[in-house]
Amino acid sequence: METKLAIYGGKKVRETPFPNRKPFSSREEELLIQAVRSQNLFGKSGTMVRDFEKRIANFYGASFAQSSTSGTAAIHSAIGVVNPEPGDEIITAPITDPGSVMPILMQNAIPVFADVDPLTLNMRPDSIEANITDRTRAIILVHLFGRPCDIDPVVRIAQKHDLILIEDCSQAHATKYKEHYAGTFGHMGCFSMQQSKHMTTGDGGFIITNDEETYIRLKLFSDKGWDYQYMGDRDHAFLAPNYRMTELQGAVGLAQLEKVRSVVERRIELGTRLNEKISSASGIMAIPPEDNREVSWWNYIFHITAHNPDEFCSALRAEGISVSPHYIKDPIFLRGEFLTKGQTYGSSGFPFNSPYASKKYHYSPDLVPNAIKGLNTVAVVGIHEQMSKEDIDDIAIAINKVANFLSR
Ligand SMILES: Cc1ncc(COP(=O)(O)O)c(C=O)c1O
Repeated sequence: METKLAIYGGKKVRETPFPNRKPFSSREEELLIQAVRSQNLFGKSGTMVRDFEKRIANFYGASFAQSSTSGTAAIHSAIGVVNPEPGDEIITAPITDPGSVMPILMQNAIPVFADVDPLTLNMRPDSIEANITDRTRAIILVHLFGRPCDIDPVVRIAQKHDLILIEDCSQAHATKYKEHYAGTFGHMGCFSMQQSKHMTTGDGGFIITNDEETYIRLKLFSDKGWDYQYMGDRDHAFLAPNYRMTELQGAVGLAQLEKVRSVVERRIELGTRLNEKISSASGIMAIPPEDNREVSWWNYIFHITAHNPDEFCSALRAEGISVSPHYIKDPIFLRGEFLTKGQTYGSSGFPFNSPYASKKYHYSPDLVPNAIKGLNTVAVVGIHEQMSKEDIDDIAIAINKVANFLSR
């Protein structure tokens, strides 16, 4: 096999482009047409959103599901259920989308960041517990890249400290931890249906729960505190946004739900194949599988431990592989000024610069040394369910080629 790297003029491993993901098909079209022909796209009085919620609850074995307009909105609604006092703390992930952080501030609470496992990048139970104070109200446990966190110890920590546990499953739809899907272990499981997710409505989201009181509050929080079933004559229970899903999203969501488990199973198969095929390459590290959980690979990740990750990824891209080093590059609290400079509400710096905060908060890299370490070495490869085994093999060949060359 050619060993000269494409970046130095050798032959590329992959000459042709990889297939684009096509998440939608005739089933989505059929249900969309049905929704439009009904002449009513308003989710509260239509059939699609209602049916979607019923089927989501059924799929996850949860008592209730509430639809939402995005993953961020779903998490915001979950925090609306927590109903923190201004200045209360909520523990979340340092490596994630801002959607697992900003809603905390939007309910005037303060995000606190637990450190992670430097390989999986998932939050570690011991760091979650170490960050609990008498102001902590909830934990947002974020399952990254399709890999459930160590959920059981976090459930025990939440119970011990009387905290609400919210699971963020935006990157881990329909993925089992032990016998059950991630999202069913906490008080609430939140999901994003943004375009890149295992199931998608372009934008969209939902929350599952087994607790009726929680569900009622989720429903009210998603609709300006408004619901005749629960409110009777009074219209608006409390301050809340409008996160109502439309029938268009409901229609696409129904079609997506029919296939989400097959999407996940295919990704497990392809990701496992890639993991095995690069496991002995030198200077890199594939993340070892664990018996007690599935990994549904929202994107595939591995670590470049003994080469320069930027150099490695440039060489890999020259081989025709779509890869990027460092994921979000820095912990999420350094990716903007909403935390480091308290850019929240006007120039108030609320809730940080207020009597409600119980101390000064500093958001600096030394809070999460393992997150820094993991981000430094991680590389993200785009894989999806419509790729073939041969596509995966090309990725593996290219990774092995670059690793061998750089190890010489
Ligand atoms: C882990 C995680 N949480 C939350 C979100 C927010 O979801 P959305 O973009 O639908 O608001 C995302 C989306 O990228 C995510 O990956």
